[in-house]
Amino acid sequence: MTEVTREVFGHLPQKGGGGAVEKFLLKSDSVKVEIISLGCIITALETKGRDGNLSDIVLGFDRLEGYVNKHPYFGATIGRVANRIANGKFTVEGKEYQLALNNPPNSLHGGNKGFDKVLWTPEVLLNGIRFSRTSPDGEEGYPGELKVWVTYTLDGGELAINYRAQSSSTTPISLTNHAYFNLAGQGSHDIYNHMVSIEADSYLPVDDTLIPTGEVAAVQDTAFDLRKPVELGRHMQKFQLPGFDHNFCLEQSAARRYCARAHHPPSGRTMEVYTTQPGIQFYTGNFLDGSLEGKGGSVYPKHSAFCLETQNWPDAVNKPHFPSALLRPGEEYNHTTWLKFTAA
Ligand SMILES: *[C@@H]1O[C@H](CO)[C@@H](O)[C@H](O)[C@H]1NC(C)=O
Ligand SMILES: *[C@@H]1O[C@H](CO)[C@@H](O)[C@H](O)[C@H]1NC(C)=O
Repeated sequence: MTEVTREVFGHLPQKGGGGAVEKFLLKSDSVKVEIISLGCIITALETKGRDGNLSDIVLGFDRLEGYVNKHPYFGATIGRVANRIANGKFTVEGKEYQLALNNPPNSLHGGNKGFDKVLWTPEVLLNGIRFSRTSPDGEEGYPGELKVWVTYTLDGGELAINYRAQSSSTTPISLTNHAYFNLAGQGSHDIYNHMVSIEADSYLPVDDTLIPTGEVAAVQDTAFDLRKPVELGRHMQKFQLPGFDHNFCLEQSAARRYCARAHHPPSGRTMEVYTTQPGIQFYTGNFLDGSLEGKGGSVYPKHSAFCLETQNWPDAVNKPHFPSALLRPGEEYNHTTWLKFTAA
C-alpha cells in the first residue's frame, strides 16, 4: 500500500510568474519520497537501513528558495535534453538550431530555464503522482511543441519514474532525474566507502569540455570497468581519477534491465537501478564545493554524493552512431527507470 498526501511547499516569486508549489509525499512500508511540482524535483527520499531506521539519502534544500536559486539540479527532472550538447548546436531535418550556451562552450540540461525550473501540473494517482506540461514550440531553442508526462509510482521498496512525451515536430529529447545520493544519509561527508557497480562493457571518453569524443571505448582494463563492485574512494585513488562524470553504454534493448547498484556497507543500504534507457551517467559530485546550505544546515563538499542518471548518450543529436535522440511527430517517447531500495 502506498499513501499519497499533498501540501503547499511554497510560492514562486511574482517576477517569475508566481504560483503555488505543491509537495507530494509518497509513503510505503519501507520508503518515503517527497516530490514538488517545481521541476518534478525529488526533495527527500527516506529509506531504511539495516537497523530499520529511516534516513534521507538525497541532497536538497529545506525551502523552495533553494530550488529557485541556482543549484546543481538537486533531485530535478532534466529536459528537453539531459547532459551536454556540443556548442549548443544541432541540425534536424536540414535546419540548424542554436541553444543557449549555459555551460560554455556547451548547452547543459535543457538550457537557461530547463524542465527543472518550471511548474508542472500534478495529478494524484492511487500509488503515486503524475506531472504534465506542454513545452512550447521554440522553448529554450528546441523545435516543436512537446507534451510531457513524468510519473512517479512507489511500490514497496521500489520507486518507478516513467517519462512520456509527444512532439508536433521532430525534436531531440532525453529526460532524466538528477537526484544526488549518499546512502549514509544526506549531509554525510563523502561517498568513498560506497561499493558501486555498473553493468556496462563500454563507456564514452570525453574531451576537456565533457563532450564525448565519439569513441565508444571498452571498459576492460580501465578505471571504468565497474562490472564488479568497487569501493569508490580506493578505486578513484588507485586510478588517480578525480571523479566520474561519464556515460556508460547499456545493452541496447527497450526492455527493463538491471544497470547499476550502489551499496553502503555500514548502514546496509543498497540501491539498484533498472531502466529502459540506453545509457547511464555516473557522476561523483565533482563540482560540489560545500558552498550551498543544504537540508538541516548540511554542507555538501566535493564527492559528498553520486548521481546515476539514466538517459540517452550525451550529444547523441550530433553523433549519428549513437542511439537516436530524435522524437518524431506521431511517435511516443516512453522510458522508465526503477530505483529499488533494500537493506541487509
Ligand atoms: C535507530 O533508532 C533507534 C530508535 O529511535 C535509536 O535508538 C538508534 O540509535 C537508531 N540507530 C541509529 C544507527 O541511528
Ligand atoms: C511505455 O512502455 C512500457 C514498456 O516499457 C509499456 O508497458 C507501457 O504500456 C508504455 N506506455 C504507454 C503509455 O504506451
